[in-house]
Amino acid sequence: MDAFEAMLTRRSTRKLAQVVPSKEFIEQVVEAGRHAPSGGNSQTTHFLVITNPAVLTKLAKLVQEAFAQMEEAPGMYKSLRNSISAAKKGFYVFHYGAPVLIVTANKRGYGNALADSACALENMMIAANALDLGSCWINQLHWLDENPQVRTYLETLGLEEDETITGGLILGYAAEGVLERTALPRTGNPVTWVE
Ligand SMILES: Cc1cc2nc3c(=O)[nH]c(=O)nc-3n(C[C@H](O)[C@H](O)[C@H](O)COP(=O)(O)O)c2cc1C
Repeated sequence: MDAFEAMLTRRSTRKLAQVVPSKEFIEQVVEAGRHAPSGGNSQTTHFLVITNPAVLTKLAKLVQEAFAQMEEAPGMYKSLRNSISAAKKGFYVFHYGAPVLIVTANKRGYGNALADSACALENMMIAANALDLGSCWINQLHWLDENPQVRTYLETLGLEEDETITGGLILGYAAEGVLERTALPRTGNPVTWVE
């Protein structure tokens, strides 16, 4: 699959099989992330690659508890409202039970923290597609960056005190066996040509 095909057929895959892909495949995806550009070549995006099922279960429980304690507010971002509402009902699993979660973090106070990590995440999602792996950006840990329970636990896993959680993704084989690769219609993202 060439680069254009990998980009244009990438879709978010949330239903993933309970099978951890080979370490070689996961490493290839992470390498694609590590090779993303970074502001001033800072290379400060930190990748926490979590495949331990007990750790993922514990993290999901902490996230569920954190959202259950939050209140929906008018004007709140829709996905955040949905997370809070599902958590309060007690059936919220932020990572959809995926076998691999890659959390990205970057230096707190660094102006390109989010931009650099977004480049890395997109590289990883495209690489995953090229390897026939499904992936989906998972943003809840970014939203919970300041949550003491979530932070403390992530720090026991390797998150540094001076790092802010910038995002993450899930990774694995499509539960249905075949990846959905039909692009959603592009109705937004306007383009203005000035020639
Ligand atoms: C910054 C960002 C945050 C996202 N956060 C989540 C998320 O937390 N959970 C989720 O299921 N999908 C998340 N997504 C995936 C989007 O919902 C998805 O990309 C969008 O619906 C378009 O679908 P596609 O990726 O299949 O083209 C996120 C995507 C981006 C770019």
